[in-house]
Amino acid sequence: MNILQINSSARREASHSTRLATRLVQRLRDADPKATLTVRDLNNVPHPVLDEAALGALFTPADQRTPEQAARVALDDALIAEIQAADVVVLGVPMYNFGVPAPLKNWIDAISRAGVTFRYTENGPEGLLKGKKVYVALARGGKYRNTPADTQVPYLKIVLTFLGLTDVHFVYAEGLSMGPDAEQTAIASAYEQIEEAVAA
Ligand SMILES: Cc1cc2nc3c(=O)[nH]c(=O)nc-3n(C[C@H](O)[C@H](O)[C@H](O)COP(=O)(O)O)c2cc1C
Repeated sequence: MNILQINSSARREASHSTRLATRLVQRLRDADPKATLTVRDLNNVPHPVLDEAALGALFTPADQRTPEQAARVALDDALIAEIQAADVVVLGVPMYNFGVPAPLKNWIDAISRAGVTFRYTENGPEGLLKGKKVYVALARGGKYRNTPADTQVPYLKIVLTFLGLTDVHFVYAEGLSMGPDAEQTAIASAYEQIEEAVAA
């Protein structure tokens, strides 16, 4: 089993979402000690945004790209190869201003490639990243689960499903900014959810 862990918090040591993602990975490896692990921290090596130059590079046929365009596409290729090689993907996701962190959006933009990770057929879109499990560890200062203010979970469900990633488990740590007791309760609950998710 190949595990790919994607951390997207701007924080390193202090990040709850990264700690919970790491805990998820630990429990998966407890069950399968031979599992390999690739960790990509999106703040260690920021991935470039999908700007006009990047679009130009992506829409230029490979044999006509300038060296700069080829290098830009190669950055996305590396992320695509990583997720293609993974059997299990673990995402650490803080809530920032009701959305996902910008580096995670850049990662999603990089791995969403027509003809490679999804395609359109006569029957509509088809995701090509099939047969993988995804775990998402969410960290939030407030409590937004199952409310309209939670744009993260619906968005992630839509885009992951679009790419073929249909087996997705969410672990919530909420109320982390609501005082020490609430923080402890949230972390304990998240640990319980992790046990349920890996046992499912
Ligand atoms: C810039 C910023 C924006 C935030 N926006 C929200 C928000 O919209 N809703 C929320 O519940 N918490 C928000 N928080 C709190 C974080 O979600 C919380 O601190 C979480 O633990 C961050 O994830 P991390 O521990 O993995 O770094 C925000 C924190 C920061 C630093």
